[in-house]
Parts: sequence; C-alpha cells; structure tokens
Amino acid sequence: MDSLEALRSELDGLDTQLGALFERRLGLAKEIAAVKRAQGLPVYDPAREQAVLQRAVGETKDSALREYRLAFAKQNVALCREYQFSLLQSEKTVLPIRLGERSYDVILRPGCLQRAGEYLDLRRRVLIVTDSGVPAQYAACVAKQCARPIVVTVPQGEKSKSLACFERLQRTLLEHGFTRGDCIVAVGGGVVGDLAGFAAACWLRGIDCYLIPTTTLAMTDASVGGKTALNLDGIKNAVGAIVQPKRVLIDPETLSTLPQRQRAAGLAEAVKMGMTSDAALFSLFEQPDPPFSALLWRALSVKKEIVERDEREQGLRRVLNFGHTLGHAIEAQHPELYHGECVALGMLPMCGEKARARLLPVLRRLGLPTQVDLDEERAYRALLHDKKTVENGVCAVFVEEIGTNCIKTVPPEALRQRLADYRRETG
Ligand code: GLY
Repeated sequence: MDSLEALRSELDGLDTQLGALFERRLGLAKEIAAVKRAQGLPVYDPAREQAVLQRAVGETKDSALREYRLAFAKQNVALCREYQFSLLQSEKTVLPIRLGERSYDVILRPGCLQRAGEYLDLRRRVLIVTDSGVPAQYAACVAKQCARPIVVTVPQGEKSKSLACFERLQRTLLEHGFTRGDCIVAVGGGVVGDLAGFAAACWLRGIDCYLIPTTTLAMTDASVGGKTALNLDGIKNAVGAIVQPKRVLIDPETLSTLPQRQRAAGLAEAVKMGMTSDAALFSLFEQPDPPFSALLWRALSVKKEIVERDEREQGLRRVLNFGHTLGHAIEAQHPELYHGECVALGMLPMCGEKARARLLPVLRRLGLPTQVDLDEERAYRALLHDKKTVENGVCAVFVEEIGTNCIKTVPPEALRQRLADYRRETG
C-alpha cells in the first residue's frame, strides 16, 4: 500500500511537470499562430504535424510503448492546432466586402441572431422571408426585434425560386405599404436568399436586403456576392440580378438544427473553393474533424477576394462555377439530391487524376455522393441550355492541381465525354 502511495505521488509529480510543459507548449503555439498570421501562412501544416508524430515514434525506445506515445503526440498536436484556430477565430468576426458604395460587412458571431437588432436597422417595416424547412424560431427571433415585422414562409426547396413566390412577396410589400426606406431580411438557406434578394432588388427598384444564412451552403457561399435569382421553365437561375446585400449576419449556432446531410451538402461549396483557389483550405478538409469556424472563415475569405475582383462575373468569378456546369445537369435529373451534392458530383469529372484522387476521400468523409445514375443524352441537352453556354461552347472550370484552376470554353461534347469517362472509370 505504501509503495502504491509512493508511486502515485511520483506520478502526480510527473503530471504536474507535464501540465506545466503543456502550458508552455500552448504558449509557443500562440506565438507560432501570431507568426503564421503575420506571414499569411495557414494554421494547419500537415507536413509539420507528420514530422512531429514521426519524431515521437522514433524517440520511443520501448517498442511496446510506441503506439501510446504516438497517441499522446497526436493529441498534443491536435489540441495545439485547435488552440491556434480558436485564437485566430476570436479575432475574426467581421469580414468587410469592399465594393465601393456597394460595400458591406459579413458579421460572423455565435449568438448574433439573438442580437440581430444591434447589427441591422430593424426600426422600420421589415419583411422577413423564410422557408418551411427553417426552424420557425429563427424568423420569430428576428421578428421580435423589429418595429413592424411581417413574416412570409415559403415552401422549402428549389421550387420556391419561382415567379409565383416572387409575386407573392411583391404583393405582400404592396399590401403593407413598403417604401424605399423599408427592408427585407432573408432567414434561411440559398433558396430564401436568392428569392428574397431578388424581391428586394425589384421592389421600387431596390430596397435594403439583409441576409441571415442558416445553412452551411448559404454561410460559405451563397450569401456573399449578391447573386439573386429565380428559376424559369426548369432553367436554374434564369431570371435574376447581382445586387449586393446591405449586411450579412452569420450565427453558426443556427447550424445546430441543420440536418447532417444538408450540412455536408453545403460544405461541398467550401470544398469547391479549396479545390480551385486555396490549397490550404482544401488541406483543412483532409484533416480529421476540421473546426467549422476555420472552414467558414477561409471559404468566405476566398469568396471575398473573388467577388471584390470580379463582382459581375466577367472572368475570375466564373471559377466559383466549378462543379456547377455538370452539377446543374445532374440536379435537373435528380431533384431528390441537394444542390451541394450535385456540385460534389459535378466536380469529379472536371478534375485531373491526382486532384480527383484527393477529392474523392474528402467527399466520402463528408458523406457526399461520388456516383450517380445519369441519362447522358438528357445531361447533354441540359448543357446546351446552361447559362454558361456561349456561342462556341460551354465555359467550364477545370482543376488539374488542387488550389489552381483553368477556365476554358469547350464544346458541350467534350463535357459529355468527361462525364462518360468518369462514369466508365468508376462504374
Ligand atoms: N455561388 C457562385 C457565385 O457567387 O458566384
């Protein structure tokens, strides 16, 4: 018994030393995070982490202890990485989108929905647009903070991006006497943002629109850049305009009610940004359980950069269509799939071999589909009607190497061939 006590006491002493060393380790991690930030380097550095783990294994003399030493080192590395992310994240809560007089802020703050009135001017008539898939408490929470709120709930899904829903919103604005000084707030995903944004752009030739995205898709992509649209006769986004919102309010806590499948589908848009424009963002997806806040911040930063340089999609912004050309053709045949799932499927045939080899496991880990049944003839016809079709072909985005892209106009047959090749290889 005495010797057990003695051993335990020695162990406690070691734990105290380990604890102090660990604190020192986190202190160094903090300094490293500051250097990385100053040099614009990503927090996650897989090569460095690998080297640390290998050293830990190599230094362990007793082979029976190697796996335990490795597990210990893995935990240390992961905790330090998480700490660095949280440090950088806590500094980053406002992302300004600089577009001259159309500039606006994206506010990213857990819990900000409850304090929407502090960030948005709600002391006027406010039309809150939401859909039946969004928990009603989110729109109610905003309504509570408005002087004169009206809530319209459209049915969940792409079908609501219709002239009929648009008319419903315009008539509501008319009925309630909305003036140019009033505003619309979209609470929900991409569909709600597109519809509400277009309604705001058209009412009296334009009133303020605030976006409160509640899905990963809308948070990482759709709510920044001002794209608004309706579908017409099965043609996605046929009617629309680029009109920037007045402000975007992102409360990651709203994701707690988002079903896992929808959460993953939205992340496909962030994967897309990593694939085409930011290798470090893509690497984040390759690590186990990357923190959402880090993915979101990085994806938004990519989007900001692209939109600021090419707001009207004259060139660079087309890169955001990666995966969408085939994705839209897939979506037309598979209405049961989410948009992000179709984008995931649409990216695969547009990649070079090495890029695809890295993309596949990332999509699988997220639970996104990598194969789909497709009527190639119908897909081909859809490509001919794609918005991105120009006189001499379809403007499509290709990724040979992760983090880079190539925008090319190719004949629709070339895309059909890519699709066929991919399906043959994976069939
Ligand atoms: N979601 C594509 C874009 O904003 O251009």
